[in-house]
Amino acid sequence: MSQLAQQLGEIKGRFDAALSRAADDAALEALRVAFFGRIGEITLLRRSIGKLPPAERPTAGKIINDTVASMEEQLSAVQAKLESAQFASELGKDIDVTFPSTEPAMGSIHPIRRLTEIISGYFERHGFAVVLGPEVEPDYYNFDALNIPAGHPAREGFDSFWLTDTLLLRPHTSPMQIRTMQQHQPPIAVIVPGKCYRRDAVDARHSYMFHQVEGLLVAHGIHFGHLKAMLTGMCSELFGPESSIRFRPSYFPFTEPSAEVDARCPLCKGRGGSCRMCGGSGWIELGGSGMVHPNVLREMKYDPEVVSGWAFGFGIERMALRRYDVDDIRRFFENDPAFLRQLR
Ligand code: PHE
Repeated sequence: MSQLAQQLGEIKGRFDAALSRAADDAALEALRVAFFGRIGEITLLRRSIGKLPPAERPTAGKIINDTVASMEEQLSAVQAKLESAQFASELGKDIDVTFPSTEPAMGSIHPIRRLTEIISGYFERHGFAVVLGPEVEPDYYNFDALNIPAGHPAREGFDSFWLTDTLLLRPHTSPMQIRTMQQHQPPIAVIVPGKCYRRDAVDARHSYMFHQVEGLLVAHGIHFGHLKAMLTGMCSELFGPESSIRFRPSYFPFTEPSAEVDARCPLCKGRGGSCRMCGGSGWIELGGSGMVHPNVLREMKYDPEVVSGWAFGFGIERMALRRYDVDDIRRFFENDPAFLRQLR
């Protein structure tokens, strides 16, 4: 028994000496084989337990196991030290820690939203409230209250998606004029951005879903000049300080008089010709506008002799196509990151 302990002590001495010389993985592996391998020193010692008297064998086994446990601890400590030294030396060798890292992938504001925010922001600074409305509307809000009774030919012009006999996906944001006037008394000043739907075949210029921004101002003494002033300011925000607007006579059942609004093309400054931004017309169509029709005011129980107002409804995609020089409206809805990144 004491002989075994002595042998173990000698083996441990050789192990410690060899371990203190081991300078790399290969040396550690050789050490493992020499002591714990098939004919390693420890393995052979273990086999010799069989020659001891049976009563001494358990104690002998325990002494060996304890020593082996501490040897294994020493081995893994040295291995960890070697690994971190190797890591440190490789850091200095192959990895340039001052090299610029790859840029994180950043998203961007969608051009439709960005335009909506520019327009809403402009009107908010002038005291307008930004409000949102439902995309599914009863025909009362979408048509009747806007002076378009059942059977009126203007209903056809809106090419609506009907959900039931009386419910439809709104084809314009004008129903929110009615909802706002029902809930509030003049003075009223709101901006309503939102999605609209029409049964249009999809092509480079049309989509069954698009965005509008509606404006409504109702108060004492409001006249067409106020509309022109606000829209001129909006266009200078969108297209630069030199931009200007023009009105073309038009017709909407809910405004009188009514006008289409165009902005002077910021690229050719109205000259047209072969300008690719405005397609040669010199002007960019924004949408419809006009003075709120007395019938609409009366429906809201307002007295047209006392209050008056203006309204407009502009298509956001139309403006975005021009402003960002995009050739196909579908690009705005495909959400291809490569496209959106270009408009960042
Ligand atoms: N709602 C009309 C359209 O979609 C635009 C409009 C709004 C015209 C407000 C006049 C006043 O065509």
